[in-house]
Amino acid sequence: MTLRSLKQIIPALETSDGAGVRIKRSIGQRQNVRLDPFLMLDEFGSAEAADYIAGFPSHPHRGFETVTYMIEGHMLHEDHLGNRGNLHNGGVQWMTAGRGIIHSEMPQQEEGVMRGFQLWLNLPAAEKMTEAGYHDIQPEEIPEITFDGGTVKLIAGAMVVGGQSHRGAMPDRSTQPVYADIHLASGASVTLPVPETHNGMLYLYEGDARLSDADLQRSAANILGDGDGVRLQAGNAGARLLLIAGKPIGEPVVQYGPFVMNTREEIERALRDYRDGRLTA
Ligand code: FE2
Repeated sequence: MTLRSLKQIIPALETSDGAGVRIKRSIGQRQNVRLDPFLMLDEFGSAEAADYIAGFPSHPHRGFETVTYMIEGHMLHEDHLGNRGNLHNGGVQWMTAGRGIIHSEMPQQEEGVMRGFQLWLNLPAAEKMTEAGYHDIQPEEIPEITFDGGTVKLIAGAMVVGGQSHRGAMPDRSTQPVYADIHLASGASVTLPVPETHNGMLYLYEGDARLSDADLQRSAANILGDGDGVRLQAGNAGARLLLIAGKPIGEPVVQYGPFVMNTREEIERALRDYRDGRLTA
């Protein structure tokens, strides 16, 4: 195995989105701060209702997928087709916006902790105008791999750990995404495979950890160099981190807010379609 080293750190910036939800944005904080095929990664986490209660009222998307992973709290999802889903502790909503979705994402609690992540995964040109769709993944559907000193929840992708192969809860995508939530006890270490064809990052959200001999930065996209595996070691407080990797698409990305296409003309068409009520037609 060729171990990947730490190539670049993109610290998350505090910002607000939707109707005033406080978030930390690493990938996607500016145009061109991306990691093909990933467009954006937001962390939201607060015990103060004022930071999240206004939620994300009705808004559109076209051309990519959103993956919302809730660690604590409840979020109600509703869309223009009448679909409803209540996302809660440990659950994932994998939404394919495809040609168009108009939805709202609203917190369902008036107090307490709300915590999770939203990742935007790009679609290749051939799949951008696909039908919208969802996979609501319940916490118990996510395989949990245990090893000495830790666990890996495998939301998406295939992974061999300790000689055993595992498959994540999501069906395959052409970018073959890997999405894993890794928990390490104090001082524990683990070596995990990451396909060498993939771009990858680690997002440390609790505790301290090292990648080979480099310290990972908390609340930052820690971008991985080349290789086919990662060696992680937790500090004294243990660590919780996300491993996110995918096969780059290698196509031009033109983004205007919630629309992500390949050309300026396609963005103009998305804006026209939205204005004329034809985004989802
Ligand atoms: Fe959304």
